[in-house]
Amino acid sequence: MTQPTANSESSNTTFNHTTSSLNAFATRLLDWFAKNGRHDLPWQQHQTDTPNPYIVWLSEVMLQQTQVTTVLPYFARFMDTFPTVQDLAAAEWDLVAEHWAGLGYYARARNLHKGAKQLVEVIEETGEFPQTLAGWEAISGVGPSTAGAIMAMGLHRYGVICDGNVKRVLTRWAANDGDITKSTTTKELWALAERLTPTENSGLFAQAMMDMGATLCIRRKPACLLCPLQADCLAHAEGRETDYPVKAKKQPKPSKFSDALLIESADGKILWLQRPDNGIWGGLWSLPLQFVEKVDGKANSKATGKTADKKSVTSADKPSKVASDVRSHEKIYEAEFTTAEQIINEWLIKNELVTQSVSKSLLDDAPIKHSLTHFHWYLTPRKLTVDSAQILELNEKLASAEIDFKWLTEQTAQDNLGLPRAMIKILE
Ligand code: ADE
Ligand code: SF4
Repeated sequence: MTQPTANSESSNTTFNHTTSSLNAFATRLLDWFAKNGRHDLPWQQHQTDTPNPYIVWLSEVMLQQTQVTTVLPYFARFMDTFPTVQDLAAAEWDLVAEHWAGLGYYARARNLHKGAKQLVEVIEETGEFPQTLAGWEAISGVGPSTAGAIMAMGLHRYGVICDGNVKRVLTRWAANDGDITKSTTTKELWALAERLTPTENSGLFAQAMMDMGATLCIRRKPACLLCPLQADCLAHAEGRETDYPVKAKKQPKPSKFSDALLIESADGKILWLQRPDNGIWGGLWSLPLQFVEKVDGKANSKATGKTADKKSVTSADKPSKVASDVRSHEKIYEAEFTTAEQIINEWLIKNELVTQSVSKSLLDDAPIKHSLTHFHWYLTPRKLTVDSAQILELNEKLASAEIDFKWLTEQTAQDNLGLPRAMIKILE
């Protein structure tokens, strides 16, 4: 990021406000924060002279796409189990995944674990946590705003933040109607954030901005009457607070359909697979999934450019069915089935195994809807009971492909594996 522009006080043309408005911003915000801000969040380091950058890094990664109230119990459990970055770096991935399970955006958990290892390396080399913005930006999962937050709040050095909440406050205050998904707008907002951040107390300022964005200048119905910036907020003057930030309309998310197989042994154990590191739920445990190609118009078959010229099976409409013959569409098959799921698919077809609907009535046989960043996922649980000979055969096939799998009861799996939230929804 560019350097803060401490000079050129007269160049108001860069921003929509007068120099005196720009200069008053930090004081107004910090006064409000001192009186009305949150000072008791467990990761805050502004009331100590010896801030702990580990705590700030950990909490900032957790808070990246998740609200404070959701993060609080997760943060407490992380600090309990992994009180230092060394503990986190040395932990088994499964234990980290289990602590993260339910927070979503699992790439963050993988980056966190990787980042911990990188931080320990830095500490072993230099004797301390990274001390520069670039040093923090080099850590997995740490972008410019998180790096700024850690510099300011975790080290009490100079740092600037400009995350989604800050962008909302600043686009409103400055009536900036640029599309915030565009880099020109992002640059303008970073420049404004740098201009407004005081060189002393940038950590307090960061905290205050976060609090403002989270408690007053919220997305819907901002509390402008309580806002310390109300006097010169340009969106408020226009009565158009919620017209900002301007964001290009998102494409509607495509839908994807999969069966989630409960492959069950006579003694009530079901098969669990560890997902490959790359891709959705990487490193977490999941039921074997079988992608279902929909060809009735709702579907995403256009995503691969293929049309419905081959037979395929839809999921929710039959009490029982054989594994769908997606294999004839090689590209889809390769893209949508993990190696383990391909093995299972072929094993199902070879043995002519038929999966059963899980729910008692066809009426509540609706799939479970789970929305991810790039698509809606409709997961239909399907059951299949297998005998010991079939288990033996399947185990052998999975083991020879070096797949990580486990046979566990639902309860044991819930208690011991890091399961994504969608899997918990299915078990319920
Ligand atoms: N959101 C992101 N970082 C935060 C923090 N440190 N406190 C409260 N909300 C936040
Ligand atoms: Fe946000 Fe309202 Fe404050 Fe403007 S006056 S910064 S819109 S809360």
